[in-house]
Amino acid sequence: MMSDFSISFPLTFNAQALLMVVATYLILLHIFRYVSGPANLPPGPVGYPVVGVLPLMRHMPHLTVQRWWQRYGDICSMYMGSRLVVILNSVDVMRECFVNQSDVFAGRPWNYFRKLTKNKGIVFTEGEVWREHRRFTMSCLRDFGMGKVCLEPKLHEETRCFLNELAKHSGEPFDITTYLPKTVSNVICSIIYGSRFDYNDDVFVANIDALEESVRKQTMLGIINFLPFLEVLPKILPTDKVLMRNVNMRDEYAQWQLDRHRESLDVENPRDFIDAYLTRMQNMLEQAKSSTFHESHLRRTIQDLFISGSETVTTTLKWSFLFMVLHRDVQQKVFDEIDRVVGSGRLPTMKDKTRMPYTQATIMECQRVGNIALFSVPRCTLADCVVNGYNIPKGTWVFVNRWGVHKAPQYWTRPNVFDPTRFLNKDNEVVWPDTFIPFGMGPRSCPGESLAKMELFIFFTAVLQAFRLELPDGAPTPSLEPSVGLNMSPQKYFVCATLR
Ligand code: HEM
Repeated sequence: MMSDFSISFPLTFNAQALLMVVATYLILLHIFRYVSGPANLPPGPVGYPVVGVLPLMRHMPHLTVQRWWQRYGDICSMYMGSRLVVILNSVDVMRECFVNQSDVFAGRPWNYFRKLTKNKGIVFTEGEVWREHRRFTMSCLRDFGMGKVCLEPKLHEETRCFLNELAKHSGEPFDITTYLPKTVSNVICSIIYGSRFDYNDDVFVANIDALEESVRKQTMLGIINFLPFLEVLPKILPTDKVLMRNVNMRDEYAQWQLDRHRESLDVENPRDFIDAYLTRMQNMLEQAKSSTFHESHLRRTIQDLFISGSETVTTTLKWSFLFMVLHRDVQQKVFDEIDRVVGSGRLPTMKDKTRMPYTQATIMECQRVGNIALFSVPRCTLADCVVNGYNIPKGTWVFVNRWGVHKAPQYWTRPNVFDPTRFLNKDNEVVWPDTFIPFGMGPRSCPGESLAKMELFIFFTAVLQAFRLELPDGAPTPSLEPSVGLNMSPQKYFVCATLR
């Protein structure tokens, strides 16, 4: 007993002393960071040594950020871990940064995900690579039907497959969101690869599962973006292996598709995005022009489009169907408009959309209330700048409080009430307020906006044309508390879809 004590006491004492020294050092370092850091930063919460405000954001971060807006104003700054971060809260300040000073705010931070994607493609690149790839992608998406009537047959084919799956459950409680990722991904796949996939195709299912797994795991890894000294962790943790396996799997599949496309390429008749890209590469080579077009960027751009084009629309539809179950009066009004304009003999088209203001407004309200992302992909300043009189140094990470804007009482009357009519004027026409920003703003806003709007309208309207969505008898009301991770999605819920 005695000897136990005599050995452990000095050790305990030393450990305590060491802890005290480390804690004092960290607190001093924390104070030093503020005293010696950039002057005249926007105000914001102080946070803790080393981790900054991260612990304050653990639970319901969107509500925490909303409180900071009220307390510190339209732009606030803070340290998340070791990163200096600004959060843009008001629409005016977002416009100042992303439109008026768009060149300065067009960067992406060098975070874990950017390193994972090796600085290729569109989403995580900057400068000439980003500019050329974004311009090319947008024109390609338009050529292959984005926002145009010629994409409708593809959307209708996909809609029929989706409706067939729903019909199999004929009124029984089921998770309507099970099929959504496949339905939605198939649209972007048919633009990239030129064809859709069967819902049971092994490779397709593996890619969809890998995407969902990556979204879940990236939440855990998000923290590493703010604490770079933890970057060794992923190399040890199984999470990194899973992410790398998924990235490599998609990369290998993209390469396989690329090889198949090259074998049958007809530069006069590009069939899809890959053909168009290969043609551009060939043209550049023939004209001996220097360009950023390269197979490695093509493989990554395919992944960028697949991920951005699948997750976002899927999550929006998950929220939309949930809101329809919860707001039966709204669902009934959408039914009435569908019956009046489309009827039941054919699928809805984009031409119908202009004559269906209530349905359009309902989809917009689903987007407003069911915000799908807390911050989306962060930006990074490419030079020192001044915003609202505050200094923002080069290399600052920039987040957008999109959730807050869509819920702010200064922008919306009764913001917590689900009311599609807020998007209709007195002549029953759809109005798009400046404060409604689901697709971002400025030159780095969503390049897939028109495609997303088409998909949301056709899928949403077609489901409500065919089915009445209800809660299963006796089921508790599903929670509206989002599951906050890389995106903000509704918690799992079950519905009964009865043929109308
Ligand atoms: C409801 C659906 C969607 C929403 C709400 C949405 C939202 C957004 C937002 C807010 C951004 C801007 C991020 C920033 O400011 O830096 C963005 C970027 C992006 N989106 Fe979407 N998006 C949707 C659908 C799509 C689709 C269908 C595609 C596929 C074509 C797509 C492709 C992209 C890409 C590639 C970027 C990165 C752009 C860049 O970094 O320049 N999105 N999206």
